Amino acid sequence: MRLSGKTALITGAAGGIGSTTAGIFSSEGASVILSDCKRDACLAVESEIRSQGGDNVTVMPADLTREEDILKLFSEIGSSHPALDILVNIAGGDHEPVADVESIDYERMSRNIDLNLKSCILCCREACRIMKPLAYGRIVNMSSLVYRGSPGQFSYSASKGGIFSFTRSLAMAMGQYNITVNALAPALVDVPVFQKVLGRDKWLAMAEAAAERYPLKRIASPEDVAKAALFLASDDASFITGQVIEISGGARL
Ligand SMILES: NC(=O)c1ccc[n+]([C@@H]2O[C@H](COP(=O)([O-])OP(=O)(O)OC[C@H]3O[C@@H](n4cnc5c(N)ncnc54)[C@H](O)[C@@H]3O)[C@@H](O)[C@H]2O)c1
Repeated sequence: MRLSGKTALITGAAGGIGSTTAGIFSSEGASVILSDCKRDACLAVESEIRSQGGDNVTVMPADLTREEDILKLFSEIGSSHPALDILVNIAGGDHEPVADVESIDYERMSRNIDLNLKSCILCCREACRIMKPLAYGRIVNMSSLVYRGSPGQFSYSASKGGIFSFTRSLAMAMGQYNITVNALAPALVDVPVFQKVLGRDKWLAMAEAAAERYPLKRIASPEDVAKAALFLASDDASFITGQVIEISGGARL
């Protein structure tokens, strides 16, 4: 097992990519802390993991757009766990898909930056406070392929681009403490939220069109992303830091 004896905090753990990552980390021997603003959905993920034989799983809900929730989350982790070895920052989403730049709305733009970028920076800050004295840490942040730019996703792509540069800065600062910091940049991933928001037909058309554009002729599964997170969180990646791995089936090469 690749994560035996390790404690991992996974944010966005109730979502498509987060729940899959939590399941895979647990099956690889990690003690998993599930955090998300959706408490009941987190509890359902916990039950699912337990039904698969994973008994080392805890739910700690938090709204990661609130600094006080982040401080409470890490304080609870500090008092209930001897260490925090792995942080996977997955919570995120696009609250401002707009077609033209003139439609950018201050509140929605702020929500995108708060949810995707500020929560990631603050969770990393708190995790480093625990990891630094223990001289061990693996941090995996969730960017997106749109970090390269995406008209129609102005503030979302900016927040994911921010994660790209923050990841590199933090990797430079934390290497001396044996803390690696990397990011994942997936293209379109097949997660339930799309069908819920768009409806089945629109989602299938969108997924099919994307798959046609990608050299590997399919979109990503949550497992594709979770396995890359597993690699970066494991000691197989102990000499890799400051990198962004595109999980894109070759899109935008
Ligand atoms: N699905 C894709 O195509 C895709 C592609 C690239 C990047 N991503 C990124 O992957 C991550 C996971 O997305 P997903 O596809 O699993 O979607 P998802 O909506 O299923 O998961 C996102 C999770 O974040 C949680 N969340 C939202 N706001 C929160 C808050 N304020 N505090 C705590 N948790 C909060 C949600 O409750 C949800 O469980 C996101 O950061 C997203 O931007 C997704």
